[in-house]
Amino acid sequence: ADRRKLAAGNWKMNGTTAELSQIDALVAAHGDAGCEVLICPPATLIAPMVARAGGKIAVGGQDCHAAEKGAHTGDISAGMLRDAGASHVITGHSERRADHGESDADVRAKTEAAIGAGLVAIVCVGETLDEREGGRTLDVIDTQLAGSVPDGATGDTVVIAYEPVWAIGTGKVPTTEQIAEVHAHMNARLKERFGDAGDAIALLYGGSVKPSNAAEIFAVDKVDGALVGGASLKADDFGGIIAAL
Ligand code: G3H
Repeated sequence: ADRRKLAAGNWKMNGTTAELSQIDALVAAHGDAGCEVLICPPATLIAPMVARAGGKIAVGGQDCHAAEKGAHTGDISAGMLRDAGASHVITGHSERRADHGESDADVRAKTEAAIGAGLVAIVCVGETLDEREGGRTLDVIDTQLAGSVPDGATGDTVVIAYEPVWAIGTGKVPTTEQIAEVHAHMNARLKERFGDAGDAIALLYGGSVKPSNAAEIFAVDKVDGALVGGASLKADDFGGIIAAL
């Protein structure tokens, strides 16, 4: 199946209105890139970023609540993200799993809510260093995929990001063989469960992607793009990654 190519930037808890100017540089340099380009800024910047991007770059949330609305102080629903102009939302990022104790069931509920609101959910999975060294990487991925990805997922509603926890913000990157092994495994599992629709689910790699290593990572079979943290904060760096895809 044809899988969409996506360069996604996750600004995490970085950025105020002053940083919106990064979008102008990205639009100017890469508004007509041959792949989808997405930035997931803090929720406070979604609406102004949508306005500034003028449809040239997609804008997404970093998390959503599973419920549509209600007494959940501080939380934001998928429908609210959509209303602000978002087209995507990240679910199950390892920082949410660790900082907020999100389980696979929580991630699945959020992902269902995202799809229900018309957003594309970028579901994150990935092993810790302990799990990799214990030879449990593929088991962890299986458990997270089975638990976090809802029934009925398709290439139009879900993207999977493989982010080894030990590679996030550390400058450590898995070998291309290690990335290839996990991506082939994920594609096979998704095909098993969803058939052709599963084969069409795009698979991103995330964890210390930089302009200098992007081309090598994108050359790996079944790597359809990247989820980029630190290097997405500067238009020059993110532009270099987009150009490599
Ligand atoms: O969501 C993005 C990832 O956690 C990767 O972050 O590129 O700073 O390592 P990083």
